[in-house]
Amino acid sequence: MVTMQPIGYVRSPFADTQAVPKGLGAKHEAEGVLEIGAEFEPGLQDIEGFSHLFVIWAFDRSEGCDLVGAPPTDNRPHGVFATRSPRRPNPIGLTVVELLRREGPRLHVRGIDMLDGTPILDIKPYLSSVPPERLRRGWLAEAEARKGQSGS
Ligand SMILES: C[S@@+](CC[C@H](N)C(=O)[O-])C[C@H]1O[C@@H](n2cnc3c(N)ncnc32)[C@H](O)[C@@H]1O
Repeated sequence: MVTMQPIGYVRSPFADTQAVPKGLGAKHEAEGVLEIGAEFEPGLQDIEGFSHLFVIWAFDRSEGCDLVGAPPTDNRPHGVFATRSPRRPNPIGLTVVELLRREGPRLHVRGIDMLDGTPILDIKPYLSSVPPERLRRGWLAEAEARKGQSGS
């Protein structure tokens, strides 16, 4: 077993899962705050220099897991490790946010898709080294193409 201690909690406008934008083309522009515990604040030194952060967090209000399921972005089933489903063997979430500003242990960010009170496990600077032409978007690109064809 692996035991982890949250380093802080997300302050989000989303109180329940229905409120979070979902589906193809959903935009994640919501602003919120990553409230980091005082004992971890020294670990935020120099974070202001990064425009974007990886936030690693726990789906604390998700139960069970489906190894195969249809996500809101498609009506076809896919393996859980090919999706961002909350119902996973280890309920860990990963979100890239834009860092707007830091107020001591509070990081004001844009782009959250977490519920209010979500436990934060870790934060790392976002550094993408993958050139766009090397990225493949798998079934998601196919679902977007089908949606474009049907016009819905
Ligand atoms: C599709 S998941 C993607 C999350 C993250 N960007 C990822 O890729 O791991 C986003 C959904 O997780 C759900 N969610 C957000 N915070 C949660 C929490 N603390 N516990 C359970 N479900 C949560 C919301 O319904 C939201 O629409």
